[in-house]
Amino acid sequence: MLTTRFTEEFGVEHPIVQGGMMWVGRAELAAAVSEAGGLGIITGLTQPTPEDLAKEIARTREMTDKPFGVNLTLTLSINPPPYEEYRHAIIDSGVKIVETAGSNPQVHVEHFKQHGIKVIHKCTSVRHALKAQSLGVDALSIDGFECAGHPGEDDVPGLVLIPAAADKLSVPILASGGFADGRGLAAALALGADGINMGTRFMCTVESPIHQRVKEQIVAATELDTQLIFRQLRNTMRAAKNSVSEEVVEILGKGGRFKDVQELVAGTRGRKVYENGDPEAGIWTVGMVQGLINDIPTAGELVTRIAAEAESVLRRNTALISDPVAVS
Ligand SMILES: Cc1cc2nc3c(=O)[nH]c(=O)nc-3n(C[C@H](O)[C@H](O)[C@H](O)COP(=O)(O)O)c2cc1C
Repeated sequence: MLTTRFTEEFGVEHPIVQGGMMWVGRAELAAAVSEAGGLGIITGLTQPTPEDLAKEIARTREMTDKPFGVNLTLTLSINPPPYEEYRHAIIDSGVKIVETAGSNPQVHVEHFKQHGIKVIHKCTSVRHALKAQSLGVDALSIDGFECAGHPGEDDVPGLVLIPAAADKLSVPILASGGFADGRGLAAALALGADGINMGTRFMCTVESPIHQRVKEQIVAATELDTQLIFRQLRNTMRAAKNSVSEEVVEILGKGGRFKDVQELVAGTRGRKVYENGDPEAGIWTVGMVQGLINDIPTAGELVTRIAAEAESVLRRNTALISDPVAVS
């Protein structure tokens, strides 16, 4: 058993979190991760309405009585989702852990804390982590440049970002971006983190609700098969490299505006990738860590395997230290 500040403060067995994933983070996956002793997280905005989210939370609770969380991703958009109503749905459902990500979570953190909910804020820089800590969040997930989703604009990989964050923060830290196995968990702990957060690795599990062909494509892909889009718009996203991502990069590289790629990047097209199993149907996000993924286990098997492998890596590395008594 690996006991860290994170496992103790969040009441989970293993320091392994399944981060929010649009269209992927549904009840079956989150429940399977939590049931195995990790922390599963439902993605709030995958549910079309706050009422649907309340039902999804209830469904998760039918599958596990262990702790699980809800992700609330905060985006600045012209037509934002009704965040206050989603927040109320989370609070009223009695969920005890929330993962926030995106823009400043202040109002949400205040409200969640008033209801005794623990907040993990996910961000991509030490300065944003320090700001979130000052708002009273209970843990920080630090996403390195390798990550799927939005790696930010600083391009600092986890090997530097995690220890830089650990040097400055006092709350528990989850290392995120680029983790897929026990070696990664052991490395994260060595860098000063209290656990890991994974997205891409959990996409490729039996309970992940995406088409089997997409899972197989992830297994076949290498660490080179991702592409950064929206760099010129300062809203960088790491996408699976395909004909659509190539076209988006080309158009924006020639000075195109968002409206010129709007149809290509539509969320409805990305969703079709998962539903129909056509990896070329649109833009979908995946991390560089796909290069380390070789199978499609159940989420429970994965959590158990990573925890056990991390322990044996840590033991093996401890054994590298020569015994000064034996040497002399
Ligand atoms: C398919 C997919 C969808 C994601 N959607 C979200 C999201 O809606 N909100 C969010 O906060 N993070 C989202 N993420 C990011 C993950 O929670 C996590 O931070 C990231 O995947 C870590 O990097 P990794 O993929 O290398 O493990 C998504 C990741 C993936 C793979």
